Amino acid sequence: MRIAVISDVHGNRLALEAVEADIAMVGVDATINLGDLFAGPLDPIGAADLLIERDYPTVIGNHDRYIAHGLPQSKQPVDRFVTERLKPVHLEYLRSLPATRDIEGEVFLCHGTPASDEEPWLDGWWTGRTVTMPGEAEVTAKADGLEFPVLLCGHTHVSRIVRLRDGRLVVNPGSVGLQFNYGAPDARYAVLERHGGRWAASIRAVPYDFEAVAQQAIANGFPHWADVMRTGWPSAIGLF
Ligand SMILES: [Fe+2]
Repeated sequence: MRIAVISDVHGNRLALEAVEADIAMVGVDATINLGDLFAGPLDPIGAADLLIERDYPTVIGNHDRYIAHGLPQSKQPVDRFVTERLKPVHLEYLRSLPATRDIEGEVFLCHGTPASDEEPWLDGWWTGRTVTMPGEAEVTAKADGLEFPVLLCGHTHVSRIVRLRDGRLVVNPGSVGLQFNYGAPDARYAVLERHGGRWAASIRAVPYDFEAVAQQAIANGFPHWADVMRTGWPSAIGLF
């Protein structure tokens, strides 16, 4: 069995299309999505229409939740930009998404951690805009009680593959649409494969037309997104 794992599309339709083409080339049995679907000043409607058409098994991300439920955080500039453009059908789709789910009792999906769509799991991205790596005890504690061979998380946009001492895999595929990978603008996703009862993971980095997306950000009035799109280096100032 082979599964493609996408996450954090953030309104980047061109990156999503490039990743879907790569997935088709790899050949998978299913594609699943870890959330933060439309929240980017790029092509949120294009991304929304495509993802709703695909209807991949998906969990809600923190920005999806802010937008769908009109929380105070949805008043931040990017989420406001997106919310003003979404149609009722897009909002209904976001509201239909669960916080966690699993695939056949084998693969567990969440956006941040099993307990929170805002907390990071495999890296400490949000500490001073510098990635710090959490220790083993902290990573392992967040997997407590989850009897799935594969645990998936997104949210931080940093690709990581961790195997716990008991053999469970914890994987963050990175982001399809908004790279904080310290120097790689390519769209990221993960491929899971089960051979003889054992799961393995790999990360794929897919080149795409990021300059076109940088121009979308500029045209939409968010020029500080353009440099991140072109380089994959995180912005010194907050993006949202
Ligand atoms: Fe997120």
